[in-house]
Amino acid sequence: MSAAADGPVRSESIAPSDTITVRGGIPVEGRIAIRGSKNALPKAMVAALLTTEPCRLTNIAEITDIDIVDELIRIAGGSVERDAESVTITAHSFTALPEQDVMRLHNASRIPVLTTAVSLHRTGHAVVAAPGGCSIGPRPVDFHLSVLRSFGARDDHHDDVVELRVDTMRGARIELPFPSVGATEQFLFAAVLAEGDSELANAAIEPEILDLISVLQKMGALISVEPNRTIRVTGVDELGGFEHRVIGDRLEAASWASLALATGGVITVTGVQQQELATFLNVFRRAGGDFTIDADGDTIAFRRARPMLRPLALETDVHPGFMTDWQSPFVTALTQADGVSVIHETVYEDRLGYTEALRSLGAQIQVFTECLGPTRCRFGAANHRHSAVVVGPTRLHGAELVVPDLRAGFSYVIAAAAAEGESLIHGVDLLDRGYADFRSKLSSVGIDHR
Ligand code: UD1
Repeated sequence: MSAAADGPVRSESIAPSDTITVRGGIPVEGRIAIRGSKNALPKAMVAALLTTEPCRLTNIAEITDIDIVDELIRIAGGSVERDAESVTITAHSFTALPEQDVMRLHNASRIPVLTTAVSLHRTGHAVVAAPGGCSIGPRPVDFHLSVLRSFGARDDHHDDVVELRVDTMRGARIELPFPSVGATEQFLFAAVLAEGDSELANAAIEPEILDLISVLQKMGALISVEPNRTIRVTGVDELGGFEHRVIGDRLEAASWASLALATGGVITVTGVQQQELATFLNVFRRAGGDFTIDADGDTIAFRRARPMLRPLALETDVHPGFMTDWQSPFVTALTQADGVSVIHETVYEDRLGYTEALRSLGAQIQVFTECLGPTRCRFGAANHRHSAVVVGPTRLHGAELVVPDLRAGFSYVIAAAAAEGESLIHGVDLLDRGYADFRSKLSSVGIDHR
């Protein structure tokens, strides 16, 4: 199996430049400027493929997914112009991607699957890497396929791929089994140019989705977000170009905040709005963190309020719950809390694997298959190891680690910075997926690394 977007890193493929040494135990202090969200920016780039007019996005971050979508657009026949601040996309033509490019790009990232509805609109044809197939790891696309079938697409399953065809996309009423971010985005891309009205019940309403809706509205789409997680769309005949400043990355902001909490340092984060972090800020404060926010709400200084953090019970959930991508950096900080913390991961069945590596640094963490939280989630009955108990505070010591996925990778950096002695972290290139310029950011908060 090859490494999917958030998949495992194989030790034989690790280049020396992909390894850093971190000397921990040194107080962190500094300022981090955060740019466009990893979970919003590539989706806005996909939206640009729904029109032949130029579309300009600003506040761009140099992360891997941008390069992947950039390549995909060029293969499909569009043009991409980039500078340090912005990206301009013109999709004057669009051809369905050849199968080998689909396999390669779907293997590299979760974003290309979101171009399926676009491809159906523009060519009547699309190819998706087969769900559950080796190339896309364990993250399925069954909700996506079901959404597209509702709009009239017919799918044909081959060995490695699913081929979809449609004559006309027609409005549909759909209810998702779970508020999936990607499937909600697939719905939006399908509905905005479909014939007639569409409705999605149990939709995801993450801030990144609301940002995408703002983009689509600028393009001429008719979308309303109703109470109770329902999104209604009236299809239009065509969409036009747009200019848009992408929201800041709330996932990255929470990672740096967790680093400050774990090490007892002070990190000031700019470029993310307070309201997009509201849930995180509450939990951060409960755990013994402190923060000050400027008048504009987009400069937040994070620190530890007391000598010891307080333990707590934490459950991840869809928005407005505690985000799953915040979980591993924050739980790493909880290794320094005085007492027992309990974590219940309800969004992904397998997002606690990183705790094993933290144990090698001395953390006391145990994982459980039971739901250790008030919500009975989908994973309890299926025996997934999706709950954890952390006992702290533990004095961490340096270790050798291999980054398994983006957020776990940052957690290893946090643990290494909080630990005494040196840690060797392999596979850090994976961090380029979500932390633009991350090595120089480490230096700017005073982390001793080479
Ligand atoms: C997005 C984010 C990711 C975040 C996640 C949940 C991007 C690029 N990534 O991922 O950072 O952690 O939302 O907030 O925006 N599922 C299915 N079938 C499907 C689709 C999803 O079973 O067809 C399941 C997944 O396995 C998971 C849950 O639904 O258990 C949520 O996944 P989803 O919200 O779709 O995540 P992504 O959009 O891939």
